[in-house]
Amino acid sequence: MRSLALSLFLLLTAMMPLQAAAAESSVKKNSAPAGGEGVREVLSFDEGWRFHPGDIPFPVIKGHGATYLSTKAGSAPGAAATSHDDSDWRIVNLPHDWAVEGPFDKEENVSQGYRPRGIAWYRKSFRINPADRGRHLELQIDGVSTHCTVWLNGTEVHHNNCGYTGFTIDLTPFARYGDDLNTVAIRVDAVTQEGWWYEGAGIYRHTRLVKRDPLHIVTDGVFAQPVKKADGSWEIPAQVTVENSGNSVADAEVSVKLLGSDGKQVVSGSAPLKVAPLAKATARVTLPVKNPKLWSTDEPHLYKVVTTVAAKGKVTDGVDTACGFRTIRFDAEKGFFLNEKPLKLQGTCNHMDHAGVGVAVPDSLWDFRIRKLKEMGSNAYRCSHNPPPAAFLDACDRLGMLVMDENRNFNCSPEYMDQLRWMVRRDRNHPSVMLWSVFNEEPMQGTEQGYEMVRRMTAAVKELDATRPVTAAQSGGQLAPTNVSMAVDVVGFNYQQGSYDEFHRLHPGIPLTSSEDTSAFMTRGEYSTVKESNVISSYDDDIKGVTRASWGATHRNAWQRIAERPFVAGGFVWTGFDYRGEPTPHQWPSAGSFFGCMDLCGFPKTAFFLHQAQWIKDRPVLEIVPHWNWKGNEGKPVRVMVMSNARKAELFLNGASLGEKDVDPVDMVSWEVPYAPGKLEVIARTDGKEIARKVVETTGEGVALELIPDRTEIAGDGQDALPVTVRVVDEQGRPVPTAASMVEFSVKGPVSLIGLGNGDPNCHEPEKGVAHSLFNGLGQAILRSEPGGSGECILRATSPGLKEAVMTLKVAPAAAMPSVPAIRGDFTVPRWRVAPASRERPDPLAVVPDNDMNTWELLRNTGLRKGPGWIQLRSDLFKPFTREAKEGGVIRFGSLQGAGEIWLDGVKVFEKQDPKGVPVEIPLAAGEKDHQITLLLKAEDNGRVGIAKPVTVGAPK
Ligand code: GAL
Repeated sequence: MRSLALSLFLLLTAMMPLQAAAAESSVKKNSAPAGGEGVREVLSFDEGWRFHPGDIPFPVIKGHGATYLSTKAGSAPGAAATSHDDSDWRIVNLPHDWAVEGPFDKEENVSQGYRPRGIAWYRKSFRINPADRGRHLELQIDGVSTHCTVWLNGTEVHHNNCGYTGFTIDLTPFARYGDDLNTVAIRVDAVTQEGWWYEGAGIYRHTRLVKRDPLHIVTDGVFAQPVKKADGSWEIPAQVTVENSGNSVADAEVSVKLLGSDGKQVVSGSAPLKVAPLAKATARVTLPVKNPKLWSTDEPHLYKVVTTVAAKGKVTDGVDTACGFRTIRFDAEKGFFLNEKPLKLQGTCNHMDHAGVGVAVPDSLWDFRIRKLKEMGSNAYRCSHNPPPAAFLDACDRLGMLVMDENRNFNCSPEYMDQLRWMVRRDRNHPSVMLWSVFNEEPMQGTEQGYEMVRRMTAAVKELDATRPVTAAQSGGQLAPTNVSMAVDVVGFNYQQGSYDEFHRLHPGIPLTSSEDTSAFMTRGEYSTVKESNVISSYDDDIKGVTRASWGATHRNAWQRIAERPFVAGGFVWTGFDYRGEPTPHQWPSAGSFFGCMDLCGFPKTAFFLHQAQWIKDRPVLEIVPHWNWKGNEGKPVRVMVMSNARKAELFLNGASLGEKDVDPVDMVSWEVPYAPGKLEVIARTDGKEIARKVVETTGEGVALELIPDRTEIAGDGQDALPVTVRVVDEQGRPVPTAASMVEFSVKGPVSLIGLGNGDPNCHEPEKGVAHSLFNGLGQAILRSEPGGSGECILRATSPGLKEAVMTLKVAPAAAMPSVPAIRGDFTVPRWRVAPASRERPDPLAVVPDNDMNTWELLRNTGLRKGPGWIQLRSDLFKPFTREAKEGGVIRFGSLQGAGEIWLDGVKVFEKQDPKGVPVEIPLAAGEKDHQITLLLKAEDNGRVGIAKPVTVGAPK
């Protein structure tokens, strides 16, 4: 699997066949670009879901007839039923994490951040235009925490057993068109835990309805990763998988075009493809590309691959895929190479929750988080321990962040292999993705079983993507006689830094990276450890169990061991950002982690500056800790630590030099300074030349609030979100580092306040609402635009005793993604039975024996039957929705065809003279009881009678 020839192997990627049918390409250069997306309709499905916290148990079904009926397609009972009353459920828009809305509770699981999770239901009813008949309709659900079951129009269509794996549902065969409503019901099981960290709860990623031609490119069906050939030239060996859900063979033409960032076409090619009905086939089109601009972490140049499929001269589907030209290589001696240049991986591991929003992170917040990591000097990100949201990888491509993409469940049985394949298929076009990790720390890592499992998983990855190496994050076992490191390309070390050398000595030909290291603790803005109040000092001291985990190392030491060893490709600090749960070394009341270089809001801790000093080479770095507000400690020594990439630093207190010292690249430099209020200044020098200076001053009392948005403009598309920093300043406008004010917020204009935080892992204030305190001088408010917004929005912050702050943000008009509206429908009578035509008028009160499944035919909510003679239809017993049961309502026959009689609960209530299909309304008295409708309809000759449109029960108009 892995060998010394790995480097070459990664460059000279052999593409593996995906599907049975394949066709060769012909290449044209510089013809006019054709549209990619645009032929398909991609609609957001995020809006207007009904949400019910807590489970709704299924009714117990007894009786032969009821049991028989309950097993049929479309007949799911309880909250999964199309006709369930969800009218009093709360309306939520996705992404949604209900756990972050909950209180902190000592009885809940520490690992999940002491937040209740449990079970909940989501439902959404919607219409599909009759003009969409004949199109391929797909529901896409990007992520549900943790497990879920999905019903579509009363039929169970999917189980998802991974909280980090998206799925698609072919809605086409279940679709109802026009007035007939469609209902998706999802039961979310967040009792199940897949992680030992906060996982949130609910449909926390996006959902979409995609309408395509029956001849279409399958979801994630384009693989267009550029590869550099041995002769130095580039090509894109594109594979395009096309599906034909129509009912005749399609003679298709697949076209692939490469566009530059200026939108100009670089090259194009096409290939014919025959696709049988209800089958898939893969076309191969190889595009040669001359001298492309390379993608790198510093200059992340992206190109666009426009793929279309056409038949009979008409484009039926298209999709655009971003791609980047870069080579990656792990060398067993020299580490990692990007575009044949050595690049030490300066990475962080991260979970995916943020302050205020939990795991329902708005797409644009990923940009913010990645920018913060880059500001720290980081160039690599490990998605620990699960595939990330798609928007995250788009941001990494755009901003230049390398990614180790990690599979969640270690299991090579079919369902779990599908989860792994899903990840590779979805993510294999991203230039940012450089490594696939098949697991994190598995007890079987040093065993034969583990080896056999990883061997299979690696092979499954390679079948879909042979361009990237596979790793596994091992916390041990690498030296066991049979172990998983023998089945991967790059060996991942979680901690065990003392074993790097031994492993390398024993296996000099095997590339190695730290996949996880550090695990040090600190509380942002705190400089003393106070065990009783779960506060940890921020000097990165090496105190086992107090400032670092017993299995970990300080930030400085962990990096030093990696930096000193060229054969170690890089490091991945545990973690870049704090996250909820796992408050090691503490427990209650701590609910969030202490590991981050930044807190949960993305505010830097000392570790952030330490890494800047160690990682950044191309610009001066200079920081001082702590702040200089130590009222009451006058004359007492305060430890001042300076972090810099300069050689020397000189510290001054109120203008008097405290001496110049060497800056140790690992330990940095410290002074014990007797506290006196005023100005602490540091000058950093290299080779006698000043390269930077930094001042920290004692501030006065806080007098005013200040709001600092991450950007000055927000897009009015209903999606864009940005964090706003809140702080307190003194008379001279200097931020007060110790401020802890309670701040109240209000917004005006087309934005909403979606979350609040302050980065204190011990804080139990609600993250939703309008008020939050600051922690060590800082707080964060997250704003999201409303769809259709433009003009201006205003955020106002107030706090007793402080001057209020008012911030105005420009709201730039931006098209909201078209979306599928939720429809609040009336109760629909879900099922009817119809008796065969009879010459005699049948008895509307005749009892159908409970074990007779066959005399009467079952109909869904509509149906017409042929005469001649009397046709009898009888509904199931039904209860209307609560409102109509309480207040009474109207039974509406949208179109009742045929003359005859309507019986309600054994009483004739209407005689219809007109044989034509017309609407009929019947009053329904209030009452909490079951109802039944019987229809006797006379069909003349070959005429059809029955229910042409659904029968509903609603409020009187
Ligand atoms: C590792 C594990 C991480 C996290 C970390 C804390 O063993 O992979 O998920 O738990 O320890 O130090």
